[in-house]
Amino acid sequence: MLPPGPKAPAAVQTVEWIVRPTKLLRDAEARYGDAFTLRTAYWDAPMVLTSDPDAIKRVYAAPPDVLQGGDAAAFMEPFVGAKSLLILHGDEHLRQRRLVLPPFHGQALKRWTEQIRAITHEQLDTWPVNTPFKALPKMQELTLDVIERVIFGTRDPELKQALRAALDLTGSTTNLIAMSLIQRDIGPYGRFLKAVERIDELVYARIDQPSTGDSILDLLRDSGATRAELRDQLVTLLAAGHETTATALAWALERLARHPTDLTQDPDPFIDEVLRTRPVLSITARKTLQPYELGGYTLPEGVYVAPCIYLANRRGRPIPWGGGTRRCVGAAFAQLELREVLRAVSERFSLRPVSAEGERMRRRSITLAPARGAEIIANPLA
Ligand code: HEM
Repeated sequence: MLPPGPKAPAAVQTVEWIVRPTKLLRDAEARYGDAFTLRTAYWDAPMVLTSDPDAIKRVYAAPPDVLQGGDAAAFMEPFVGAKSLLILHGDEHLRQRRLVLPPFHGQALKRWTEQIRAITHEQLDTWPVNTPFKALPKMQELTLDVIERVIFGTRDPELKQALRAALDLTGSTTNLIAMSLIQRDIGPYGRFLKAVERIDELVYARIDQPSTGDSILDLLRDSGATRAELRDQLVTLLAAGHETTATALAWALERLARHPTDLTQDPDPFIDEVLRTRPVLSITARKTLQPYELGGYTLPEGVYVAPCIYLANRRGRPIPWGGGTRRCVGAAFAQLELREVLRAVSERFSLRPVSAEGERMRRRSITLAPARGAEIIANPLA
């Protein structure tokens, strides 16, 4: 049996999920408690969300033959590909994870610091001063430059443009609704598939170029992956590694403008608070491969169980990176990038908000972003 949840048809819940995501989650928790069931067009089965810390711990500790990751991301497959780390499960998922993780971890991270700093200052040089601008597009540009440099060893303006073209199509609310409800090769979804074809052309061209000796592509190539596997892992890292970090940075700047804080020394507490109160992703989902006990219910096989980041964070035990064998592979890298960018901003500017009222959380593709794009005014420090 499934826990109760909103009674509206799946199409209506899909629109709510897109248009009023945080209200939908808060209202459902207030009405139904720790665990409730949502139905949307994104997933092929009902999804049971939970914000209970102990239930969440159990979900992340469950072995992959009990709760399986991957299926809930199936709606992203036309973009990231069937061999993507986001989609795979079981042994193949673990094998790809072991390949991708090391360069984003521990000592290996250090070698990216200088590059992140250089790209950040290059980007901050382009900021308009003493005049309002939206920080989100600027942060998207910055994080795309960074991840592209890390993955390919060099940057390519054409690929950057192609990726943004695809992701921007999923950014508008009307497009998102149309794409979720009518998955056919027409309208915005047709344009999206065309944009993905262009990305493929450019990524395959990079795969076929000689090695630069200092990139994730080189590392994956040495592992003997096929061209199609390489394509899927690279596109996954490009997408997962830049939109999320850009949105977190935009929130950080939106908050910083309203709560001036010196971040030149230790930005970590500020970063933790931004990730807690303005989580970029709202859920991390797993599918039940056998009946599963949750919140006093025995869930049947074939439904989703999803620790809800947004609600769990509000209860005080934050889970910004998810957990278990699917925990974010870029967590340490993202933290490094957030730290370096915010330090550099704090060294060079004091920020002001364009209007006193904080920005609402609005869905852009899979992220929850500042509704007005993080409008700020940057005053250069003497
Ligand atoms: C502030 C920035 C970021 C946030 C908040 C974030 C958050 C998350 C979350 C919540 C998950 C799902 C975990 C789960 O299901 O338990 C995830 C997965 C993932 N993230 Fe991140 N992420 C960020 C940045 C990055 C970066 C920079 C990269 C790559 C360089 C990256 C690559 C991935 C990948 C590949 C997965 C899938 C892991 C798997 O299924 O095994 N993320 N991320």
